[in-house]
Order: sequence, then structure tokens, then C-alpha cells
Amino acid sequence: MNLVELRSVGKTYNSRMEPVRALHDITMDVADGEFVAIWGPSGSGKSTLCNLIGLLDVPSDGRLSCVGRMAAELSDDQRSELRNERIGFVFQQFNLIPVLSAVENVMLPLQIRGVPYAQCRERAAAHLDRVGLGSHLDRRPDQLSGGQKQRVAVARALVGDPQLVLADEPTANLDTHTAYAIIDLMRALNQEQQTTFVFCTHDQRLLDSVERRIQLVDGTIAEDTRG
Ligand SMILES: Nc1ncnc2c1ncn2[C@@H]1O[C@H](COP(=O)(O)OP(=O)(O)OP(=O)(O)O)[C@@H](O)[C@H]1O
Ligand SMILES: [Mg+2]
Repeated sequence: MNLVELRSVGKTYNSRMEPVRALHDITMDVADGEFVAIWGPSGSGKSTLCNLIGLLDVPSDGRLSCVGRMAAELSDDQRSELRNERIGFVFQQFNLIPVLSAVENVMLPLQIRGVPYAQCRERAAAHLDRVGLGSHLDRRPDQLSGGQKQRVAVARALVGDPQLVLADEPTANLDTHTAYAIIDLMRALNQEQQTTFVFCTHDQRLLDSVERRIQLVDGTIAEDTRG
């Protein structure tokens, strides 16, 4: 089964200056259970593609479906609900909420689902522990290093047991030991729970760990290799 399907997808940003054609003619599928990386130079469209697949933004052209739903047929509320229930997202800039502690940030996706507070906190603490931050639960983002913030963002993406995780440069700020620990954690979820992972990355450590690499150049797919 394909979890993600894109057919001739394009994205043009209509900024105040001239329009920016960030993606064009993207046709690709991601099957349930894949562990795949999108890579390519800065500005090649990786984050744009990640945002489209994760239903954070809508294509300008073509058709896109994610977790069995056509993006164009969903309202904003339906997209939000689907993201909360089925998709985990690690943002390139983390997007943590500055006034909340690490554990409160990680709890948020569960609280939105209506899970009782104590259960949210317990599951969030367990996920922070898995990424090596069990002793940093009550720190706010401004009291954490870049790599620690990144791991909070990873814990928040995983806490709701999503079917699909989109992770934009999830290891960019991590030292070698921590990067491999996070990659191993994600790989274990992929193998044990069939969680599908789509990464956007420049990180060779992560590129060496995936089973499929999709290369973007100038907003389009240049190569799609497996193995
Ligand atoms: N909101 C926006 N408005 C206008 N142009 C944008 C916007 N977001 C991205 N772009 C442009 O779209 C193109 C693709 O950007 P994108 O962020 O997807 O690249 P990327 O491959 O993720 O780069 P990086 O490796 O630096 O993160 C770039 O030319 C960028 O300037
Ligand atoms: Mg990017």
C-alpha cells in the first residue's frame, strides 16, 4: 500500500517579488513501512516537499495523497486532524513553543487528542527519556542546546505513535554518538512498528542508514535509488 502518492506535483510561492517555483513535476510514491531520505542542495525544495507531504501546505499543481486522503479534498481542520492523529513532524527549525517546558512541548499532540493530563505527561516523559533527555523535562527551549531542542522535536513527533514521520534535517545539530542513537531509535520504530519515515537531509550519517534516496535538484527529482 502507498502511504504517500504524488502525481506531477508543483509548488510556486507567490511572494511579494516574483513568484518562486520551488517544485515542479514531482511524481513519486512512498510505500507503507519505507525508510527514505530526500536529499539535494540547499534550496532544491526538500523542506517544501516535506511540508506538502505532511499536509502543512497545499500543492499549486498536480495531485497529492497522504495516508489515503487526497490533500485537495481536505479542509484546513481535516488536515490538522489528520496531522495530529497520523503524522509526526520534525521541523528544520524545531518549532518548539518557547513558553512551554520540554515535557509540555512533547505532551501537546496528545493533549490535542484529549488524552488525560497524567497519561500525556507520562508518555511524553518516556519519549524524552528515549532520546536521552530524561533529566531535562522541565527545561524551556531557551535553556536547551540546539541538539537538545532537536531531540525534543523528535520526541514530540514520535509521542503520538504516528503512521508516518516526516523529519526535516532531524540529525543536523547532533554529535556523532547522539545522531546514531536517534537514527537507531527511528530505525527500530520502522522495523518493529512499521512506522514510515521520510527524511529531508544533508547528513551523510542518515543517508547511509536509509534504504532509499530521492535526490532533488532545482525542484525536481534527479534520481531515486534503492539499496
Ligand atoms: N515561504 C516561501 N516564500 C517564497 N519562497 C520560498 C518560501 N519557502 C521556500 N522558498 C524558496 O523555495 C525554494 C526551495 O526552498 P526549500 O526551503 O524547500 O529548500 P531546501 O532544499 O529545504 O533548502 P535547505 O537545504 O537550505 O533547507 C528556495 O528557492 C526558497 O528560497
Ligand atoms: Mg530545508
